[in-house]
Amino acid sequence: MKFIHISDIHLVSGDGPLNGCVPSDRLDKCIQDITKWHGDAKFCVISGDLSEFAEKGAYKSLKKKLLEFQIPCFLMIGNHDDRDLFQSVFTNNPCDENKFVQSSFETDDRVFIFLDTKKQGKNVHDGELCENRLDWLKKQIINSGNKPTYLFMHHPPFDIGIPYMDNIRLFGSDQFLSTLSHGKNIQHIFYGHVHRLTFVKWHGYTFSSLTSLNHQSPLVSGSVQGEFCDEPPAYGVVLIDENQLTIHFNNFLDRKPLHQT
Ligand SMILES: [Fe+2]
Repeated sequence: MKFIHISDIHLVSGDGPLNGCVPSDRLDKCIQDITKWHGDAKFCVISGDLSEFAEKGAYKSLKKKLLEFQIPCFLMIGNHDDRDLFQSVFTNNPCDENKFVQSSFETDDRVFIFLDTKKQGKNVHDGELCENRLDWLKKQIINSGNKPTYLFMHHPPFDIGIPYMDNIRLFGSDQFLSTLSHGKNIQHIFYGHVHRLTFVKWHGYTFSSLTSLNHQSPLVSGSVQGEFCDEPPAYGVVLIDENQLTIHFNNFLDRKPLHQT
């Protein structure tokens, strides 16, 4: 089975520029590359920060692009998004009984769970999973039984050694960890938010993140001028079978032929 992971597309209204790049152009090129080379993917996940400024126009632009994308897409929200505004545009997007943007997708042999880690309130960038969201997660995890289960979340529940990001991670990680302990077969957790490629093993659970499609976080603050940098964007091509999980981090804009000398 193949699926695609994309994160932090940060669209702006009017398809304008942001931090020196054009996020809508990056997303168009990403979708074109996936369509051309990975049209056999079963689904695609965009793990939050769909918009930069939580503008209705940005969500409408995303909706239009996805109507032309042949692969079904699961959408999650991040700290830059507005839950109500997102749901007013994506009216059929699944949510839990408390209207959080959480859902699960089950195939014959696997379960995929998409979480909403956005903290309530305007201009709040750290993450939370309140009691209601954790209760929902607990139910999903228990219902998944022995089936291999994969989680997706925007904020990571740990520090990654970049202070800028560590200050706005998911807090309440003890409660999250305790909820995970109800799972019998959690295979991997995909996350976004940090705008970098990472692999993390935390309390025995493995995690991976992706670069943004638009702008990246420098590993060392001050190693480049400005808050963000222009390292290559990537999408993840995830291959799963009974015994293996493989993630290809695909730097789709940098695939160029070698120059022969
Ligand atoms: Fe982001």
